[in-house]
Amino acid sequence: MGGFDTIDWRNGKVVMLDQRRLPVAETYMECESVAEVADAIRTMVIRGAPAIGCAAALGVALAAHGARAAGRDAVRRAAVDAARELAETRPTAVNLFWALERMKTALESAAPQTAAADLAARLLEEALRIRDEDIAANRRMGQLGAGLLPATCAVLTHCNAGALATGGYGTALGVIRAAVEQGKTVTVFADETRPLLQGARLTAWELGRDGIDVTVIPDGAAATLMRQGRIDLAVVGADRIARNGDVANKIGTYSVAVLCASHGLPFYVAAPTSTLDLAAASGEQIPIEERGRDEVTTVGGALLVPPEARVLNPAFDVTPARLVTAIITERGVARPPYGESLAALCRNVP
Ligand code: MRU
Repeated sequence: MGGFDTIDWRNGKVVMLDQRRLPVAETYMECESVAEVADAIRTMVIRGAPAIGCAAALGVALAAHGARAAGRDAVRRAAVDAARELAETRPTAVNLFWALERMKTALESAAPQTAAADLAARLLEEALRIRDEDIAANRRMGQLGAGLLPATCAVLTHCNAGALATGGYGTALGVIRAAVEQGKTVTVFADETRPLLQGARLTAWELGRDGIDVTVIPDGAAATLMRQGRIDLAVVGADRIARNGDVANKIGTYSVAVLCASHGLPFYVAAPTSTLDLAAASGEQIPIEERGRDEVTTVGGALLVPPEARVLNPAFDVTPARLVTAIITERGVARPPYGESLAALCRNVP
């Protein structure tokens, strides 16, 4: 599958496939400091909720690795400071904060006399475990979600919720991959996903590499395709899911959900339980990132909007739970009412 690593640890560095340059160039960025990892998350060298969680965890491990010659107190301080810096990068995807919390627990559960090098090694192990568990969760989610897809179907997806957005395999695209692996005939329509074109650039790239049938459409074309009967269902990922089942995901996801409801089509969300935020009662409590105007006013460096025009660039929206047919997680498929089904999934922790 794929033949690329979204994120890895090599020779004491955090290495990431630079997603800003895809599909034109496949290049890897090597981060040697926490500041570089934080910048990579902020500027979307790496993006997608589970992937930025993996990046944050490896960023903490990188800080600890760099401080190991200075003793155990220096390792602890470096890890804590790194976590603080990384928490400031992007606010919406809860996976980032979840991963930092896991790193904090790994740090705090180490015996006080643990040697600096052992402490740093322990943090690196935990960060790589977070990534590997994410891949395993995606594969499980894929198996569960594939069962919801008809033997032959056309699926709409939005943004990129694939191997590039996760440790590997993908959430929404993992469901599609698993269905194809089971022998189903799946055609994918990928919303281009303005303004940063994650659908056109990234989803089309990674599905194309796997030989999965994919057609990029302008975001505004989905309604017409549904009306023509050319789409059977939608599957998207999520950045944060509130306790009541409200789903924050890439801006434009809410429109897809409204269109599905209007055309009587299922709207599925695929996300690992690390994307659940049971502390948020509803989508009202989910912080929505606002990004800079340049992402809207320019494409490939060319200015498209009058410089005096006002611009809004909310990076995410919230789809109300009532529009979500089911939430596919690695622990099972949750159905409405989500207040009960999501809490039950979280109680079933092995
Ligand atoms: O701004 P991005 O590209 O990080 O937004 C990503 C998304 O909205 C994805 O759909 C979401 O993180 C799910 S990834 C499995």
